[in-house]
Amino acid sequence: MKILLTGGAGFIGSHTLIELSNAGHEAVVVDNLYNSSPIALKRVEKIIGKAVPFYRADVRDRKALEAVFAEHKFDACIHFAGLKAVGESVEKPLEYYENNMNGTFVLLDVMRKNGCKNIIFSSSATVYGDPAIIPITEECPKGRCTNPYGQTKSMLEEVMMDVQRADKEWNVVLLRYFNPIGAHPSGTIGENPNGIPNNLMPYITQTAIGKRKELGVFGNDYDTHDGTGVRDYIHVVDLAKAHVAALQAIERKQGIAIYNIGTGHGYSVLDVVNAFIKANGVNVPYSIKPRRAGDIATCYCDPSKARRELGWEALYGIEDMCRDSWNWQRNNPNGFEE
Ligand code: NAD
Ligand code: UD1
Repeated sequence: MKILLTGGAGFIGSHTLIELSNAGHEAVVVDNLYNSSPIALKRVEKIIGKAVPFYRADVRDRKALEAVFAEHKFDACIHFAGLKAVGESVEKPLEYYENNMNGTFVLLDVMRKNGCKNIIFSSSATVYGDPAIIPITEECPKGRCTNPYGQTKSMLEEVMMDVQRADKEWNVVLLRYFNPIGAHPSGTIGENPNGIPNNLMPYITQTAIGKRKELGVFGNDYDTHDGTGVRDYIHVVDLAKAHVAALQAIERKQGIAIYNIGTGHGYSVLDVVNAFIKANGVNVPYSIKPRRAGDIATCYCDPSKARRELGWEALYGIEDMCRDSWNWQRNNPNGFEE
């Protein structure tokens, strides 16, 4: 299939380009490079051994998007483009709503005008709020999102389902990612957060390499096996492959399809720190800090629907994730700066 990847230069998009190519699909990237580097695309091209057509454009720019659709006949779009920093979304709600909502409105409209009515959307476990059931199945009711970033994911899910209900030619696949970490085993692409990392794994790798003094563990009084927060970490290569598998739901014209994309295993903050030390033989100094506002105790999924319907399941374990995150960090202490 020929696929448009919005936000394809980012962390998950760049890894998905590789898996799409491995599966014989053709991909075109639209990205405004707000949170990514063109070097990531160059490195992807080196890995897959072919050029990736790239348009530096904003998905909110209708004219630019129409020009891309005029040049290519797409079978489907994987929509990664969006702002994703939870804390920043609380500080700048209007910017987050504007970018994530408007970008998607323009994209959906240009898609339908060009007869491309198949979309895979990057949603998040955040739509479950403080989950009503653990492990979380897709039937678990959505919860209250505590931040504008999460609200945009939850609202955009509803927008896309309404679009599909109004026009049955649409196929909408909502992938609710759990916590993606790790990096391509080549160590040449990976996650490259700006400034001080908010998420656990980049904070661990930057501490291990000496950029940060110590990891703050946000709370050790949760109702979990060691008191620290439990999450469903998933290797980004497994996550990338889930997008390839999700294309089946489009081929089968499933209408609306929702999948949890995680491993089904929950690891605490200290489990991850210990797995990292064990996998890499490096030290990660840490100290216990107060809870972070908005955090929940436990979040992991039941990923069996994706296995049943798409034949997809995560293959990498936590030590692989720790090894590959470190491999990326160690080889690229300054991210994509060359
Ligand atoms: P990322 O920031 O690395 O990638 C997003 C890409 O979108 C970036 O390259 C950015 O430059 C681009 N972009 C942003 N706004 C744009 C716009 N208006 N027009 C064109 N390009 C734009 O993030 P990621 O981790 O690869 O996440 C990809 C998607 O998955 C995002 O929608 C994110 O919200 C979602 N998601 C991520 C996680 C995670 O933990 N990484 C978890 C759940 C969901
Ligand atoms: C966060 C986002 C979520 C997003 C997800 C994936 C919040 C509240 N939620 O989820 O919307 O979909 O990232 O990008 O930010 N931790 C520490 N020290 C740190 C960093 C994290 O102890 O320096 C702990 C957290 O308290 C949590 C766990 O590590 O228990 C994972 O945190 P993080 O990587 O930020 O992911 P989530 O909070 O699960």
